[in-house]
Amino acid sequence: MVKIAPSLLAADFSQLKDEVRSIEEAGADWLHLDIMDGHFVPNLTFGAGLIKALRPHSKLFFDAHLMVTNPEDYVEPLKEAGVEMLTFHIETVTHAHRLVEQIKSAGMQAGIVLNPGTSLSLIDEILPFVDMVLLMSVNPGFGGQKFIPASVEKIRRLKQMITARSLKNLIQVDGGVGIDNGAIVIEAGADVLVAGSAVFGAPNRKEAIAKIRG
Ligand code: DX5
Ligand code: ZN
Repeated sequence: MVKIAPSLLAADFSQLKDEVRSIEEAGADWLHLDIMDGHFVPNLTFGAGLIKALRPHSKLFFDAHLMVTNPEDYVEPLKEAGVEMLTFHIETVTHAHRLVEQIKSAGMQAGIVLNPGTSLSLIDEILPFVDMVLLMSVNPGFGGQKFIPASVEKIRRLKQMITARSLKNLIQVDGGVGIDNGAIVIEAGADVLVAGSAVFGAPNRKEAIAKIRG
């Protein structure tokens, strides 16, 4: 069954512990943690310190999405903070394979992220080494943006790449995912759906998660 990963970016930042508890009770599978540094993207969020503070209050799988330059500097602090899956943008690195190995030897799963305008051909070589590929369906930096429809076709092509090579990579989709497009994203091949505003902004979070799951 598809996993739902609500993005903490859309939570009420003055009530984070309760917000995390609320989505856990509502049936979320993962907690998606958007780490932005104000350089790779024009926004700044939070880092390892905040994640570490939340860790004892949740059993959710902690999935950190790095939107930073120099992602290698974040591996150890995020491992320490209790992150289980660490994804970084292919656009931010020269030595993708080295960073994947660094993440895995720190004891985390590794994922690679592509912006909407980045070609799937860039991950051809790294694919067998990563646990997950995250396809951005909006340009990263902010929550609450509109899903880019061409993402559906890109998910399908990625799914074909993975199955044609008998690989096991998870496909995660992030940006503008909600009740109205969850089904098509799942049908195209997604395994993990990130949803920020569609979950945290819903009057009934349990119902929203169930409907996105389809
Ligand atoms: C965007 C972030 C997303 C974002 C998703 O840069 O990577 O995770 O929080 O938010 P929604 O679901 O509201 O588009
Ligand atoms: Zn994200």
